[in-house]
Amino acid sequence: MPALNVPLFSLVLSVCFQRIPGQRISAGASPSKIFLPFCLSCFKIDLGEGEVIQFFSEESADVERIVQHPFLSLPGTSGSRYPPLLRPDAAVTRDIHFPCWIVTSNFLSELTRLEVFSMPFPALRVGCLEAKTPIVQGGMGVGISLSGLASAVANEGGIGVIAAAMIGMTQPDVAQNPLEANLRALKEEIQKARQKTNGIVGVNIMVALTTFAQMVRTAIENRIDIIFSGAGLPLDMPKYLRELCEEKKEEFKTKLVPIISSARAATVIAKKWLSHFDYLPDAFVLEGPKAGGHLGFKPEEIENPAFSLDVLLPQVVDAVKPFEDKYGRAVPIIAAGGVYTGEDIHRYLQMGASGVQMGTRFVVTHECDADDGFKQAFINAKAEDATIINSPVGMPGRAIYNDFIRQAREGLTKPFKCIFHCVKTCNQEKTPYCIARVLLNAMHGRLEHGFAFCGANVGRVDSILSVHELIRSLEKEYDAVVKG
Ligand SMILES: Cc1cc2nc3c(=O)[nH]c(=O)nc-3n(C[C@H](O)[C@H](O)[C@H](O)COP(=O)(O)O)c2cc1C
Repeated sequence: MPALNVPLFSLVLSVCFQRIPGQRISAGASPSKIFLPFCLSCFKIDLGEGEVIQFFSEESADVERIVQHPFLSLPGTSGSRYPPLLRPDAAVTRDIHFPCWIVTSNFLSELTRLEVFSMPFPALRVGCLEAKTPIVQGGMGVGISLSGLASAVANEGGIGVIAAAMIGMTQPDVAQNPLEANLRALKEEIQKARQKTNGIVGVNIMVALTTFAQMVRTAIENRIDIIFSGAGLPLDMPKYLRELCEEKKEEFKTKLVPIISSARAATVIAKKWLSHFDYLPDAFVLEGPKAGGHLGFKPEEIENPAFSLDVLLPQVVDAVKPFEDKYGRAVPIIAAGGVYTGEDIHRYLQMGASGVQMGTRFVVTHECDADDGFKQAFINAKAEDATIINSPVGMPGRAIYNDFIRQAREGLTKPFKCIFHCVKTCNQEKTPYCIARVLLNAMHGRLEHGFAFCGANVGRVDSILSVHELIRSLEKEYDAVVKG
């Protein structure tokens, strides 16, 4: 496209639309009543680094959306990373350094207030990706975090994650062609997420899945931003990236992030990836024993303070530092497991993490892809309901105690015939139930035939919020700590 004459173009815009040239709406200033004379009004809102703007209107339908200037490029950021649709009271969590259009539903509309405030969260950088909100929404299978939740988190500046575990369970041919059904469903969910957001979207692929290699390849081919991989050591992950780059003659940019539970695992993976593939992990998620789902700890380690996230985090930071020094690039550590408040986020960032991963809190959001019955189980759960089970996957897992778990412990659950062959480590002859079936039932709210995985903090959850409300409340709490 030929270079635009920016001043001339702006002049044309000024004539066509209301423009407040260079107006600086500074933090704290609340111009009372801004009149928008057209359905499409053009403002120059000059925001600085890390500032966000929030629109308030008495008529809630007034501001339909804010559209970034379509023709001018924004230095340093990708123009396509703007959230396209905003609620009237929603914050634009991106910097706007140039004119933007405000689309209103009424011909004559009034904004009562525009507020600019600085965003206290530091950005989380994973290679060339930058999340303004340093929160990764943990991948949650089966079907708990799909494109709905992942895109909502990405639209708030965080990293949204689709869980690949048994993602094809709702495909009609899953029993006949489990591999094809899972790969098709993964591709569909990635595409759906892409339609809803231009933010950062990842997938979570457990090493223990029989379809691990094909899932990783499918995610990369569909240009996923990041792959998170745990429940085993993902020792070969860069191989699939390299192979695909060679086969397709294309430079795929997917970032590879192992989920680990110890400093030793970080060192083993980094050494193996470097020696075999000349690839340094793009980041690590360190998941402590308070997390939900499968845990990378022995049962006796879970309550042992020596394995707490607060103890493990400095060890992992120290273990990764020599690699950062030698290769001259940052390998961010993302702390997970029991992170609940903005204060927690602040504490882990102070301890050397670059971001946090959260699961439990994202379950109780409107956008979470699980049935309301699943979310209600979280709200009803008391602290003492969180229990450790022996998962058929061969690892301990944390779940909300219920009648199904009681029956399984008493040997009352019925044997089953395996049709999915989903997990490499599952001993189908001995296991008392099919973990895939049980988690799928739970996701559909049929908790009498299954159970819900949960984090240790599930007892603290008491209401369902939107992802926007959750992230803004975490940010406020974080800000309160920063300001002392
Ligand atoms: C319902 C549920 C399902 C989960 N499923 C997975 C999964 O499929 N793969 C995975 O790596 N982690 C899984 N996790 C772990 C989360 O991604 C996250 O790291 C963890 O829950 C963080 O701890 P928190 O819940 O205390 O925030 C799951 C957690 C929950 C609560």
